[in-house]
Amino acid sequence: MRNPYLPIPVKVKKTFIESEDRMLKTLDLIFLNKENKENFKFMPGQFCEISLWGKGEAPFGIASSPLEKDYLRFTVNRVGIVTTALHYLKEGDELGIRGPLGNYYPIEFFKGKNIVIIGGGFAFTTLRALTKYLLAYREDFKDITIIYGARTPGMLLYKEELKEWERREDLKVCITVDKGDKGWQGLVGFVPTIVERKAPSPEDAYAVICGPPIMIKFTLPKLIALGFPPERIYTSLEMRMKCGIGKCGRCNIGRFYVCKDGPVFNYAQLEKLPKEY
Ligand code: FES
Repeated sequence: MRNPYLPIPVKVKKTFIESEDRMLKTLDLIFLNKENKENFKFMPGQFCEISLWGKGEAPFGIASSPLEKDYLRFTVNRVGIVTTALHYLKEGDELGIRGPLGNYYPIEFFKGKNIVIIGGGFAFTTLRALTKYLLAYREDFKDITIIYGARTPGMLLYKEELKEWERREDLKVCITVDKGDKGWQGLVGFVPTIVERKAPSPEDAYAVICGPPIMIKFTLPKLIALGFPPERIYTSLEMRMKCGIGKCGRCNIGRFYVCKDGPVFNYAQLEKLPKEY
């Protein structure tokens, strides 16, 4: 078995800036070694520890779907030493990843159901992976609704893809911004308000919600009021993590290690935990 502390060598295939403030950057990575590529099996919702020699390591949700075989995608918010160093990487630069780590969205439960995906800001990464995956097996699911919001149009992730999804007839896409600009013709309003306004039906449905804590705090009661039971609302927790494999105890809340038992949990599970997340 591969040593879980040993990074897998990868290199940068492509990078692109996602946001108008240039703080959100996407890296598409490829494996240096064919065997590593073949052995790297993951599902939407899982994450990796990305390491850079001399800088450190940090966890990131995988933003590509397992069906996108040509690269592994991560979107990095520039907030600290590792993320700043990642922003400076160029095509061909080498780095390391450990993973895939953690659990994933319970896609088996989603089969034959209506799915409501709710995202806010930068947290749309693993929701992109999930959406791509659901679309690849579109006939396995009933209605799919996406509600995604950012501060401004320029802060939305994966803009071209969002436009493609908006054009699809088998997908209901509601993109909203807190504040529009001259060219913005979409919705304006905070995510919880849009969820209330669009009122997705809880019947035969699962909801998946990822975003800043404040967005989740105000969206969750809206979903509950619409009739979604807590065990059918999933989220992905972002916690301070280090080892990523349940050894160091850094991500512990209640009886769970977020890195190993999560990061994906439903709200029936989270309701029983101390409110540290
Ligand atoms: S990050 Fe070490 S136990 Fe979770």
